[in-house]
Amino acid sequence: MQNPIFVLLLAASLRAVAQSPTPLTARLDKVSVTFALGANGQPSYTIAYGQKPVVQPSRLGLVFQDGQGFDGALTLTGSEVKDVDETWQPVWGEVKNIRNHYQQLTVHLRQKAAPGRRMDVVFRVFADGVGFRYEFPRQQALGNFVVMDELTEFALPADHQAFWIPGDYDTNEYLYTKSRLSAVDNSAQVKSSTEIAVRVAPDAQAVATPLMLKADNGLYINIHEAAQVNYPAMQLHVDRASHRLTARLVPDAVGSKAFLHAPAITPWRTVIISDKATDILASKLILNLNEPSKLTNTDWIKPMKFVGVWWEMQVGKSDWKYANSLDTLDAKGQLIPTGRHGANTANVKRYIDFAAQHHLGGVLVEGWNTGWEDWFGNWKENVFDFVTPYPDFNVQEIRDYAKAKGVQMIMHNETSGAATNYEQHLDTAYAFMNKYGYPAVKTGYVGRIIPRGEHHDGQWMSNHFVRVAEMAAKHHVSVDMHESVRPTGLSRTYPNWMASEAGRGNEYNAFSIGSPPEHETIMPFTRFVGGPMDYTPGIFKLKNYEPTGKRQMHTTLAKQLALYVTLYSPLQMAADLPENYNEHLDAFKFIEDVPVDWDDTRIVAAEPGDYLTTARKAKGKDEWYLGSITDENARQQPVKLNFLTPGRRYQATIYADAKDADWQKNPAAYQITKQVVTSKSALKLQLAPGGGAAVSFKPL
Ligand code: NOJ
Ligand code: CA
Repeated sequence: MQNPIFVLLLAASLRAVAQSPTPLTARLDKVSVTFALGANGQPSYTIAYGQKPVVQPSRLGLVFQDGQGFDGALTLTGSEVKDVDETWQPVWGEVKNIRNHYQQLTVHLRQKAAPGRRMDVVFRVFADGVGFRYEFPRQQALGNFVVMDELTEFALPADHQAFWIPGDYDTNEYLYTKSRLSAVDNSAQVKSSTEIAVRVAPDAQAVATPLMLKADNGLYINIHEAAQVNYPAMQLHVDRASHRLTARLVPDAVGSKAFLHAPAITPWRTVIISDKATDILASKLILNLNEPSKLTNTDWIKPMKFVGVWWEMQVGKSDWKYANSLDTLDAKGQLIPTGRHGANTANVKRYIDFAAQHHLGGVLVEGWNTGWEDWFGNWKENVFDFVTPYPDFNVQEIRDYAKAKGVQMIMHNETSGAATNYEQHLDTAYAFMNKYGYPAVKTGYVGRIIPRGEHHDGQWMSNHFVRVAEMAAKHHVSVDMHESVRPTGLSRTYPNWMASEAGRGNEYNAFSIGSPPEHETIMPFTRFVGGPMDYTPGIFKLKNYEPTGKRQMHTTLAKQLALYVTLYSPLQMAADLPENYNEHLDAFKFIEDVPVDWDDTRIVAAEPGDYLTTARKAKGKDEWYLGSITDENARQQPVKLNFLTPGRRYQATIYADAKDADWQKNPAAYQITKQVVTSKSALKLQLAPGGGAAVSFKPL
């Protein structure tokens, strides 16, 4: 009797052969990708991790406006495989050396029907995942073309747990929902606030990337993209019944997705895979898929910590604007000051003094320039000129004062969404920064993009963000972009693009219900997969910091310290007010000490939504720093110190939650202890509900 399993296998492989005359595979270690062309000429791919399917046969292709895209029958005209193994050094980052090791499969495709256009699909298989993109070579049959849809699918074999935010065209500032793919429904969450003023994408089953998934078979999977340039952001439509995800590109004002001209490439679609959650955080796949730095001289790019005239406005203690109205003037025809303007010279000097005293590199000042009376949600084009200070902000005096104290000023350019207005002022704005010694700028795009119609995450704005990074680089200015598209590793190519917001930061605890304690355990698996975030950690006054008295931080004080290690950014704010830091200078010492640039990083323990412990080695020094955080549950976190140099003794300073600490009831209770340790030692960190621990290790 014939073995029924054998018959089944034979049938399956025969079917595969019949569908695809030439299935092509690339692999590295456990990860493999297989490309196939069906009998109907339709291209598809699969991804596996060892024996486990990660992506089942999934469609590839694009729809063009002229009806002659790559959604019809194609033929395979050739293919190549190559292996690459190289190591490169980022200008700044979580590690000193990055290994870029992959096997690349390129498939050359041609339309069966006229005009016989050509397209390549390039797959790169790494030990921790896959990237693939579409490439359109220079060719007679393809000049300008308009992409109306990308057909890329990710057919997932099961109903994974997902950590997701809605696929909104204009913002990523959402709380994460943990649900099965079959339960994705964003309709209750989409924003309608006039502050963000988004036009919400009408797809209740659309989620943003990076999308973090956890399979019941133990795999952790992260889907995102790399090198999103000249193309809109990709979101994913979730088919709740089949668990098939389909690419959904953010449209432009008339519903097209991308205007391209061959030769052209799309961003890489990325799938990071591991059976360990910690590997997802350690992956360098996205950076590796980006182009090397376009800047040849990068010596001027300096990671730094900073304080700022900022939180005091967020919590309503002062204001960005100088006057209440532009329409009421005094007898001399001048604006009438409210007396609540935060960016006044005396107040700025107070922050400069604090930065100098505590060896922080910079001071950010928001609300220093004219326009804030009128900036909010009124769709005006020319509110800001980016060079005119308010009368009480003496730009020259502040420059000289900061210089004398060895502190650098950080510029703020809020555009109120008027991106074309900003482009017209870029030259003068950055020349102004050079004149007054500002080495970095925080930009912002609150509200709808003006002229109306474009989206923050569409192709036009993607190009705008790159133009800003390029212009800033010409002027040797580093950039931190708020309300930008979420990052896709472009900091490798433009290392002066040091941070973005593009997520729900700590500031939400100032003006909304805030973010629950699990938020910071999810962010590294989602928003941070694409690159650094200006999260603004370091709030020490955890309750009663704003007039309503209703808000409170959702962490303990020790957890705020730990965030400096668990959330990586080369521009890292100490967000609270000097007077609040002065209440806890012993704890502030950790913020003073912690670096923003690292030689090495070890993800010690991690589970999205639950906990995270990260250890990092300072750049060029044998000092280590560790951050450990938990969600709403108290936890004991054991840590082996085997990352320390063997045979060496270190002074460990442990900033921990006090025994009775609790984010809700007793958030400011912490204790600082010291201990001599070696690489053979171990710590048992006690984390309070919503708590954390921060540790510095300095050689003795
Ligand atoms: C939103 C930014 O996220 C915040 O940091 C900034 O203070 C305001 N916009 C004003 O520009
Ligand atoms: Ca924001």
